Amino acid sequence: MRRTRLALLAALTLLAAACGDDEPVPAAEYGERLFSDAKLSESRFNSFSCATCHSTTPTPAAGRMDSGYTLHDSAFRKSWWGGYETRLLDAVNFCYVNFMRGVAPLPEDSPQSRALYEYLVSISPNQDARPLPMTVVKNAADVTRGDRARGQEVYRAACQNCHGELHTGEGRLTEAASVLPEVTADYGEVFPGVPPSLVVIEKVRHGQFFGVGGNMPPYSLEALSDADLGALLSFLDL
Ligand code: HEC
Ligand code: HEC
Repeated sequence: MRRTRLALLAALTLLAAACGDDEPVPAAEYGERLFSDAKLSESRFNSFSCATCHSTTPTPAAGRMDSGYTLHDSAFRKSWWGGYETRLLDAVNFCYVNFMRGVAPLPEDSPQSRALYEYLVSISPNQDARPLPMTVVKNAADVTRGDRARGQEVYRAACQNCHGELHTGEGRLTEAASVLPEVTADYGEVFPGVPPSLVVIEKVRHGQFFGVGGNMPPYSLEALSDADLGALLSFLDL
């Protein structure tokens, strides 16, 4: 009896203080809440949660093209970020610090990182899951333009959640996300000699402008093909 009780207690992490009520919440459940809570990051400039960029179902929901992979079966991979990260917590903390403006990486023994870990384990039934490829485009180069209708689909699936409606930004996740494509109007002045479309390609591929600034996520070739990027640029009239 006592043993079962103890095991049960061990399985429940008491996070009453963190959750603001008196009921003990199982760690995985607390982790699931944190996953879609932008307040996980203490930065008041952050409006992203993990769920902004990652699905958790075996395949992403229809109409969603995220920069990050679905985290279904992510916990037991041998490496992450295309082999750049070999510890799960480092893979998470890269996102936490660079995209969510976390002031410092989540420490290994914090209730938050433990709960996120338990949640990721709970959606990772395959213990032999393989690492996923991630091809970063090193040098931004022009791409062949494509079909505008396809470009509109790509915009809706990949950009609209953060940037809102084209031309107005209506419904955008954060005021920090610029109105597309109007924001490119002064690129000629800011980046003299560089075609505005190339600046957008650089931004989408690296999340930063030529190595500087920003907390927009980068899109690998797996997340967004050059063909889809070309279609998107046609839709943006770039
Ligand atoms: C602004 C977008 C964004 C946010 C927010 C974000 N991530 Fe990511 N994440 C990415 C991108 C882009 C990658 C690199 C592509 C990939 O490997 O999925 C990535 C990679 C990862 C990976 C490695 C996946 C793999 O197998 O390579 C894990 C694990 C992860 N993120 C967890 C998290 C968690 C947990 C949070 C919340 C604390 C979070 N991410 C927040 C964009 C984001
Ligand atoms: C997770 C949210 C998110 C997604 C998804 C996203 N962006 Fe962004 N984007 C931002 C934020 C926030 C900024 C402003 C901060 C920065 O520059 O990183 C930004 C900035 C930009 C800029 C630079 C604007 C300027 O100030 O000059 C461009 C261009 C851009 N995004 C294009 C895109 C395109 C195209 C897509 C879809 C393929 C996309 N973004 C997807 C959040 C996002």
